Amino acid sequence: MGALAEAGKISGYTLAATNGYEGKLIQVIVKRILTEVNKTSLFVAKHPVGLDCRLADLMEVLDVESQDLARIVGIHSMGGMGKTTLAKAVYNQISSRFDACSFISNIREVANQALGLISLQKQLLYDVFKDENVKISSISDGIGKIIERIRGKKVLLVLDDIDNKSQLDALAGDLDWFCSGSRIIITTRYKHVLKAPRLKHNEDYELKQLDSTQSLQLFSWHAFGKEVPDAKFAKLSKEVASAAAGLPLALEIFGSHFFNLKTDKEWQSMLQKLKDAQDKGLHETLKISYDALDTDEKKVFLDIACFFVGQQRELPTLMWEGCGFFPDITIKVLMHESLVSINDDTGEFEMHDHIRDMGRNIVQAERKVGKCSRLWKDDETLDVLQNKGVRVYLFNYYYQLNLI
Ligand SMILES: Nc1ncnc2c1ncn2[C@@H]1O[C@H](COP(=O)(O)OP(=O)(O)O)[C@@H](O)[C@H]1O
Ligand SMILES: [Mg+2]
Repeated sequence: MGALAEAGKISGYTLAATNGYEGKLIQVIVKRILTEVNKTSLFVAKHPVGLDCRLADLMEVLDVESQDLARIVGIHSMGGMGKTTLAKAVYNQISSRFDACSFISNIREVANQALGLISLQKQLLYDVFKDENVKISSISDGIGKIIERIRGKKVLLVLDDIDNKSQLDALAGDLDWFCSGSRIIITTRYKHVLKAPRLKHNEDYELKQLDSTQSLQLFSWHAFGKEVPDAKFAKLSKEVASAAAGLPLALEIFGSHFFNLKTDKEWQSMLQKLKDAQDKGLHETLKISYDALDTDEKKVFLDIACFFVGQQRELPTLMWEGCGFFPDITIKVLMHESLVSINDDTGEFEMHDHIRDMGRNIVQAERKVGKCSRLWKDDETLDVLQNKGVRVYLFNYYYQLNLI
């Protein structure tokens, strides 16, 4: 009886919403049910290591059992330490306890695009209310719509890779926006972003490096496909793993690269290269994998880094084939080196932002010596085309710009 009374209070769909058309109404309901039922788990990591301890620590800070407040938790560390990975793991673990959830990825990158923040606000509103028709005319209009609606639901919101306060203001400007029991998880490289005065009750969680045992495990998974290194390479593996300084991204890239090396001599010389590059910073160290690629593989890698992260592979594949490359094999090589991955659900190229920036730095360094192969920022493209005097060579579908 009580349950029926409760159910009677839940507002549903009425025929008025579809001007009396029953067929249309059924379509709307089926679509809604499918989006609710098809909540898939996010892919976390190929070979998770040390994730359970990190997860347990974070769960303590999140304190999801406590329903008296909303709470904002910031995960911070340098890039490549595993913030996004941990946020996905915790999202999978706790999302079922909330009325609605939203995981917003790559905020730093998207926010820099035209209308980027508005598109993120739309994503948030879509994820929480499954309403495709929401119109947002400006960032402040978006803020108004979020405030107006979001308080009615206990939400789990993950804001991944925030790098300035305006992004936070647009998506979760104040704890008062959210109802009790809601949790907002922010990942950032910049701890100061979390110090916004209106974000009362926020908690910080600093993600630390993997310890030496975990580092060796992660390296071994990628270099040998198992948790411990081959006995023959045990000592050298420890040295390589320690050169990664507990950074999962570096362990993954080094492991994938050493996978191809079979002799002691090859290992020694690669280790030496790593050590030499280390003083010059992380990008130089990661660049060792890029340097080992052949010329066409390098071009495909740089194209993806500059243009195709977040894009499907089909169109660029046609372009690369037109250039006489063998994109299918090349993409496999790049994936094997852990430089690129393809999202299983969306089929889009993915690349860690450190790797992408390393690729873009390579192109920018070429530009300093008068070679300009790729332009990806609107203002730079305009500047080059208007002011620099360029010769554009078209090779099949491929292009090369030479500054004169
Ligand atoms: N605990 C972990 N176990 C295994 N791999 C990890 C772990 N944490 C991170 N990684 C891997 O390291 C890389 C960088 O992690 P990511 O979460 O993207 O770092 P961040 O968000 O801090 O830049 C990813 O490829 C991820 O799969
Ligand atoms: Mg990240």
